Amino acid sequence: MALLEREEPLASLAACGDEARLGQGRLVLVAGEAGAGKSALVERFTAGLTGTRCYLGACDGLFTPRPLGAFLDIAGQLGGEPAELAGRFDASAAREELFALLLGELAGPGGLHAVVVEDIHWADEATLDLLRFLARRIGSLPVLLVATYRDDELAASYPLRTALGDLAVQRCTRRVDLAPLSAAAVAALSAGSGLDATELYRVTGGNAFYVTETLRTGLDQVPRSAVDAVLARVAGLGPGARDVLHAAALIGSVVEPWLLEQAADCPPSTVDELVDRGLLTAD
Ligand SMILES: Nc1ncnc2c1ncn2[C@@H]1O[C@H](COP(=O)(O)OP(=O)(O)OP(=O)(O)O)[C@@H](O)[C@H]1O
Ligand SMILES: [Mg+2]
Repeated sequence: MALLEREEPLASLAACGDEARLGQGRLVLVAGEAGAGKSALVERFTAGLTGTRCYLGACDGLFTPRPLGAFLDIAGQLGGEPAELAGRFDASAAREELFALLLGELAGPGGLHAVVVEDIHWADEATLDLLRFLARRIGSLPVLLVATYRDDELAASYPLRTALGDLAVQRCTRRVDLAPLSAAAVAALSAGSGLDATELYRVTGGNAFYVTETLRTGLDQVPRSAVDAVLARVAGLGPGARDVLHAAALIGSVVEPWLLEQAADCPPSTVDELVDRGLLTAD
């Protein structure tokens, strides 16, 4: 599958990989809205890595997240002592031991170790602690740590926001921000589909997930998967913000802030929250 308009992010990841290979470990924070193409980017990057041991862990959007779930998966892939410890892991007792063992394995021989932790907006606090622990120690190791997150979920994830403040100032940290696809890229993806590319770009805003799903269902209906994705975002709002969003939806696709604030009787901070969560776009 063609990955459009991702040459620059791929080059940044490759440069970080090269630096890590030379013993200057890097943490790369890959951010983008839900469906921006973070997973596709990281998959493409790791598939092209040679002479590298890759490990992948993902945080799940569960109501009861598994403490350190992503790193327990990675420990299992590392084998040896980390896998053994992960098998009998008890969050309270073995946490520091697991942190040290993981670092020890990643610092060991075998060339570049690339560790991908997906969707850290869902990470439990122990996972974020471990990320911070590693970020403070990989600067002189051949380790490439890549963490992806939805920047439109940041408002809802206080632990991540706090952790990011710390991760962002580490010397080894680099950022890759994924922009939506351009109108030209959407046109290229829709070539041959019979869909109107301008309209497809207008309704999707260049979001890779919405584009892909709409190419499947056509423009005359909103794809069920897109409806679910948007409603999941709405469900995460407090009742006040949800009422404001409903008012905005009734006003129309272009909403004057003063009108919204008067119609919904809300403070500007509620509108800010909706903008942070990607449900309103500031113009
Ligand atoms: N640059 C791109 N060009 C074309 N298609 C893309 C591009 N990036 C992603 N896609 C497609 O868009 C869809 C969504 O991508 P992906 O799952 O990587 O998004 P994501 O940012 O990881 O989403 P989520 O936040 O839900 O994890 C996939 O079908 C993917 O193949
Ligand atoms: Mg993803």
